[in-house]
Amino acid sequence: MSHLFESYRIRGLSLRNRFMRSATTSYWADEEGIVKDAHVRLYRSLARGGVGLIVKGHLYVADNGKAHTGMAGISSDTQIPMLRKLTDAVHEQGGRIVAQINHAGVVHQPDRAGPSEYSEGGWTAREMTVDEIEAAIQAYGDAAERAMQAGFDGVQIHGAHGYLVSQFLSRHVNRRTDRWGGSLENRMRFLMEVYDEVRGRVGNEPVLIKMNCDDFSPDGFTVDDSVKAAVAIAKKGIDLIEVSGGGRGQQEALRARARHSDPALADLAFAGHASKIRDATRPTPMALVYGFRKLDTMRKAVDMGLTDMVSMSRPFIREPDLVERLQSGQREVSCIRCDACSGSDVFGKTMLRCHLE
Ligand SMILES: Cc1cc2nc3c(=O)[nH]c(=O)nc-3n(C[C@H](O)[C@H](O)[C@H](O)COP(=O)(O)O)c2cc1C
Repeated sequence: MSHLFESYRIRGLSLRNRFMRSATTSYWADEEGIVKDAHVRLYRSLARGGVGLIVKGHLYVADNGKAHTGMAGISSDTQIPMLRKLTDAVHEQGGRIVAQINHAGVVHQPDRAGPSEYSEGGWTAREMTVDEIEAAIQAYGDAAERAMQAGFDGVQIHGAHGYLVSQFLSRHVNRRTDRWGGSLENRMRFLMEVYDEVRGRVGNEPVLIKMNCDDFSPDGFTVDDSVKAAVAIAKKGIDLIEVSGGGRGQQEALRARARHSDPALADLAFAGHASKIRDATRPTPMALVYGFRKLDTMRKAVDMGLTDMVSMSRPFIREPDLVERLQSGQREVSCIRCDACSGSDVFGKTMLRCHLE
């Protein structure tokens, strides 16, 4: 018996089904990081389409943590009224939405700063001072508080994809020799302090994390590191771990190691690694992202207990009403993962839309 379309609870938050729209950024916010009516319309249509939980595309927690042009922010009170309009639109449609809070670290332009000096593709980032690290932790907390004021149902710490939390976790990026670097325990310190700060600000509201199962870098964050970090954050009381992958220094060929041996799960890029995290962190709720296409695979992943929630991004760009469609008999998503929605020719330039005719 499949639970896919049945309600689910994360802490006190009741969700109408097991589907999650993974954070998907757009490039439409104004220069002050304020979301526009186009965002409100998009999020309303997602909620109307039946998805259980929406994660808002990443929001920068501090002005020096902005990852790209057009990224929306949660670094200032002036951004709250439009975010409130967006969460109201979701709630009016019976949806639930959490704010993904993020800091770009070494990716921020022009002042690139991260755990330690780091070079990539022709640019070099400088090492953050301890005062800057502490200010960044405070900024996550301030952002979480603003998320509550803006009506979000919780927050998701972005701990994946080579942004600041993931940079601290990575041996490849983090070469510090003080208490913020070196051993895994030290590399996890930033995440643990961010979690404590966020939890202190939101009290009993849901706090989620998106985490890498592997950076796929020869000297980065591995699945063994990931299992240990997931156990540590689960012990602290995280309400859901969304398993993702890929960080700074990643190599395409190394991605194969995250696959599952079961051919029925072949579409899911991180299913093998996710099962290790699952076994170590049960009963903490888990979501899995990357590659869901067929309804049968979604059912199987939930029924076998690999994940509690089916998380997708690109399919919802093409079909915001995907969940209703699947419930009415559609067997698979129509997104073909061509990546035209995120390629370098559109990244930061056009509206978030499917470019497949
Ligand atoms: C246009 C676009 C924007 C994205 N923005 C974010 C983001 O803001 N935060 C994040 O954690 N992941 C982001 N992602 C990654 C997705 O959330 C997801 O992890 C990835 O696309 C794999 O899932 P899928 O196979 O269902 O698309 C983005 C992906 C795309 C295509």
